[in-house]
Amino acid sequence: MNAAVLSRRELLATGLQAMLSAVFAADSDDDGKPPARLGVPLYQKSLPFDWNALEPYMDGKTLRTHFEDYHARHLRDLQKTLDEVELAVSDVVSLMPSIRSLPQPPKTRQSLLQLGMAARAPGRSGPQLLPEDVQNRIRVCGGAHLNHTAFWRFLTPPDKSPMGPMGKVAKAIEDEFGTIQEFKDAFTEAAVNHEGPGWAWLVYRPDGKLVITTTRNEDNPLMKDFVAWQDHGRAVLLLDLWDHSYQAQYQDNRRKYIDAWWNVVNWSFVSKAHAIAKNVYGH
Ligand SMILES: [Fe+2]
Repeated sequence: MNAAVLSRRELLATGLQAMLSAVFAADSDDDGKPPARLGVPLYQKSLPFDWNALEPYMDGKTLRTHFEDYHARHLRDLQKTLDEVELAVSDVVSLMPSIRSLPQPPKTRQSLLQLGMAARAPGRSGPQLLPEDVQNRIRVCGGAHLNHTAFWRFLTPPDKSPMGPMGKVAKAIEDEFGTIQEFKDAFTEAAVNHEGPGWAWLVYRPDGKLVITTTRNEDNPLMKDFVAWQDHGRAVLLLDLWDHSYQAQYQDNRRKYIDAWWNVVNWSFVSKAHAIAKNVYGH
């Protein structure tokens, strides 16, 4: 059973919340310290730096609007959607892999049946699924909240991070892409050439391979229903490609934005994300 789809009462009763969190925990990272869990709660954590701390690479006004308006609005919409269907979610990560097959919590199913609005899964007799419009809102708002939460974590003022990957993740990148510069060039090209809004990713796949990919709109590599299996996995790095993240400063010059963004990548967090991804997949 997917713990993300339990009602509030069931979630509390079964203790699956704790079990679910453990899935996203890891034992150690490159520094030998226990890495923090990479769960995504239903709130925004404040950024650990000032709005203008990423200048001149990312201007403070755009960053603040991005965080306080765009991200916050999608989080509110997600909270509203989950409240409507009475889904208790402690970690948004748990929703991503199976959006199309999230069962309806019992109480909501009952009320929707009474209203004659229940959504039925065509051709199957299993649990009744969430209505498609709810699935779609979870896809967009849940994806946006998760992606942005991750995006902020991978940013840092330029003087607070090494200027490139280190340790095990550096070796893994070199093994896969040749050199760090070749990796950065390939990532940049993928991001520049992505059409329309979306995200660029360095993904650690369940088979241990590192791949560069892009996703449309607010999709992410955890969404098994919407991304190809070759791109499924956990983020080791990601970049927002929506106009709202760069247009005010760089107009339509996405390449200039990406070239600037490399200066504020939190490479220490890249190491941590890589260590956690390895641990999640038992490598
Ligand atoms: Fe964004």
